Amino acid sequence: MQKEIRIGLLGLGTVGSGVVRIISNHQEELYKQTGLHIHIDKILVRDTNKKREVPIAPDRLTVNAEEIIEDPEIDVIVEVMGGIEPAKQYILEALKRKKNVVTANKDLMALHGAEILRIAQQNRCDVFYEASVAGGIPILRALTDSFSSDRITKIMGIVNGTTNYILSKMSQTGADYQETLEEAQKLGYAEANPGSDVEGWDAAYKMSILSTLGFHVAMNLSEVDVKGISDVSIEDIELGKKLGYEMKLLGLAKLDDQKIEVSVQPTLVRNTHPLASVNGVYNAIYIEGEAVGETMFYGPGAGALPTATSVVSDLVSVVRNMKLGVNGQKMVAPYKEKRLKTDDEKYAKYFLRMVVADQRGVLAQMTQLFANNHISLEQVIQQPYNSGNRAEIILVTHEAAKSDLEIALATMKEMDVVSSIESCYPVVEA
Ligand SMILES: NC(=O)c1ccc[n+]([C@@H]2O[C@H](COP(=O)([O-])OP(=O)(O)OC[C@H]3O[C@@H](n4cnc5c(N)ncnc54)[C@H](OP(=O)(O)O)[C@@H]3O)[C@@H](O)[C@H]2O)c1
Repeated sequence: MQKEIRIGLLGLGTVGSGVVRIISNHQEELYKQTGLHIHIDKILVRDTNKKREVPIAPDRLTVNAEEIIEDPEIDVIVEVMGGIEPAKQYILEALKRKKNVVTANKDLMALHGAEILRIAQQNRCDVFYEASVAGGIPILRALTDSFSSDRITKIMGIVNGTTNYILSKMSQTGADYQETLEEAQKLGYAEANPGSDVEGWDAAYKMSILSTLGFHVAMNLSEVDVKGISDVSIEDIELGKKLGYEMKLLGLAKLDDQKIEVSVQPTLVRNTHPLASVNGVYNAIYIEGEAVGETMFYGPGAGALPTATSVVSDLVSVVRNMKLGVNGQKMVAPYKEKRLKTDDEKYAKYFLRMVVADQRGVLAQMTQLFANNHISLEQVIQQPYNSGNRAEIILVTHEAAKSDLEIALATMKEMDVVSSIESCYPVVEA
């Protein structure tokens, strides 16, 4: 009878080191829960001479992936190397050799998840990827297991720690975007090349995974509306605060009348909404279900040990399935027809800030323009602008169709009295 599960680990960086640590420190708990000893057999790295965060015998490191993937004694591959290739090729090879897979790779699962899961099912193997979204928060298992009896109608997420750190720091200190980004880079909260985080792509990968699992449709990344935070100004954050909102890079996935919209964009969230108080590098996912109502999951979105707990929990699920002989049978492939909303079906409240000529009748022209485009206004503020004979108008609309808003903005841009449209953000109320 099998007494040991042998793991091949692809990658020994931040997450890989955390996995080694948790498997070594939690041996007893893992044995009690699985009845088997979990043993990391071999580890793939780029450089075997590099100093490691965890003590590892040099003979367990290799730069040759075949040594792991082709080893018939290895039962499970844990992929924590990141990137698309060669990670994808290694995972597919492993599945074809009937090895189960655990991965933390959101880029790979968002872009190629459907293909990987199909091949996994053909080979009766598990592919679990809990750590790929919101590191230490067990949100994928919640969506696939805990909410399996409900119908999810909305998922809102703060799923990128770097941007949440930058926006909450700007809000707390009054510093501008560039200065705060540089500070985040010095502290290690933002990468030297922060593009994927600040332009919203990292969050979009995660929202694509969450909406696929929440709504049972195969969402593509190209179907997510994405806007990053690099244009968010401290003026907007402070004006938002005065009106009772906090700026967040918010992922939104919404289902209305069987039609879906998924977006990632800077959003003003009412300060009494639970998501508004999620600060720093923390993540949170707020879920609405027809039966359950509102729930929220909060926790660390990254870091060696939080992320590794998700990876090792997936490993425990794989091992339990191996003992029952049910690998590859638990995953539910997307089974619903995907119908995406058009812009005239996407409704939101909006915050707008524009600079206009400071003369009689301009405000009336603006409000008339919105009325002509079926947009009603909840709040209108006019205040002096700091240069020229100009004024600043700040508007908060009632719910309006995205298509109507776009027509109003395009018309406004052509008006002589409008100097600039400074900003436009969706608004989420509590
Ligand atoms: N860091 C987090 O908090 C976090 C949170 C959630 C999810 N994730 C995901 O987890 C994965 C790993 O992230 P990480 O932060 O641990 O990355 P990392 O610190 O950069 O580590 C990557 C590891 O993979 C190895 N590696 C990379 N490419 C390789 C190749 N072509 N051949 C052989 N070895 C290779 C590296 O080897 P060397 O050490 O020799 O260079 C390194 O050990 C990514 O998919 C990431 O998105 C990370």
